[in-house]
Amino acid sequence: MTNTILRVENLGISFDNWSKALKDISYCVNKGEILGVVGESGSGKSIMGKAIMGLLDRNASVTGNAFMGEYDLLSLSEKQLCKVRGKEISMVFQDPVSALSPVDKVGKQVEEIYRIHHLDTANMESEVNQIFKDMGVDNPKELLAKYPFQLSGGLAQRVMIAMALLCKPKLIIADEPTTALDVTTGKEVLKIFKKIKDTMGTSILLITHDMGVIAEVADRVMVMYHGEIVEISDVFSFFDKAQSPYAIDLQKAMPVGFEKRFMAIKGEPPNIFDSIVGCAYESRCNLSIPMCKEIKPELKQLCPNHFVRCHLRECGDANE
Ligand SMILES: Nc1ncnc2c1ncn2[C@@H]1O[C@H](COP(=O)(O)OP(=O)(O)OP(=O)(O)O)[C@@H](O)[C@H]1O
Ligand SMILES: [Mg+2]
Repeated sequence: MTNTILRVENLGISFDNWSKALKDISYCVNKGEILGVVGESGSGKSIMGKAIMGLLDRNASVTGNAFMGEYDLLSLSEKQLCKVRGKEISMVFQDPVSALSPVDKVGKQVEEIYRIHHLDTANMESEVNQIFKDMGVDNPKELLAKYPFQLSGGLAQRVMIAMALLCKPKLIIADEPTTALDVTTGKEVLKIFKKIKDTMGTSILLITHDMGVIAEVADRVMVMYHGEIVEISDVFSFFDKAQSPYAIDLQKAMPVGFEKRFMAIKGEPPNIFDSIVGCAYESRCNLSIPMCKEIKPELKQLCPNHFVRCHLRECGDANE
């Protein structure tokens, strides 16, 4: 039996047929793991998640495949996708209040999910209560009677996650789920994701720009830059011996207490309209050598679970 829940192959996204925002990215999400996706603003994290859900804007054209069980999600019709969304794969967004309908009470929106997916409503009340209780909501009944605007950010995000879980999907794509929350509430939401993974075996693709979130919950990490993968590894090797200069610089840019101020990365990420011949990080990289400007590095496998896009790294480097 395969351990892979999602297999993305050569996913590419262009807007208005010319700006290449995502370039042939390939990766897998395994059963019951949290794959953290990290990278600066504009690196293509959200469009990658939206492409898999079939939620990209109309001006986007998509190439490649995203296999989930028997389906290639990228070749399904809207009608087929509606059946897959929720049941197989769900999405949790950054801003839960605007992702919920403002005119309906939470309870009605939860019922709607049962109706759309033809779920058995006989046990609806007890199931919904249990899901909310598992997430630390003491009085689900009261919560269901509220409108989204009456909820705190943390409570609204719990509602989004509960709704994402109702159909017991195999994969949740969470796009910056803690960014709009204060640190304490964000930590609670991360705990919920960990619990979902451990108790239900759900896989989670967790998109964030926050290395702290990655360190807290991810099993593996995928680093993106200028629409490409620059490094993939398990979380321990990542924090212990990241290999791409970009990942190393991202880690240095992580705040670590008052004494050791963080180091911002110099310069700006390139624009998607820039066509770059060599390495996209070259102009900001402290380690660049002449070939970085001229030749684009491929994603190399350094050891079984560690892939890096950098001319300076060779097979075996991550073992040292
Ligand atoms: N509909 C669109 N038309 C044109 N360009 C778009 C469209 N949607 C996204 N883009 C571009 O695609 C690139 C990737 O965007 P994306 O939202 O995936 O970035 P991100 O990594 O999620 O950034 P952030 O951390 O700010 O959320 C950006 O340059 C963005 O401007
Ligand atoms: Mg985004």
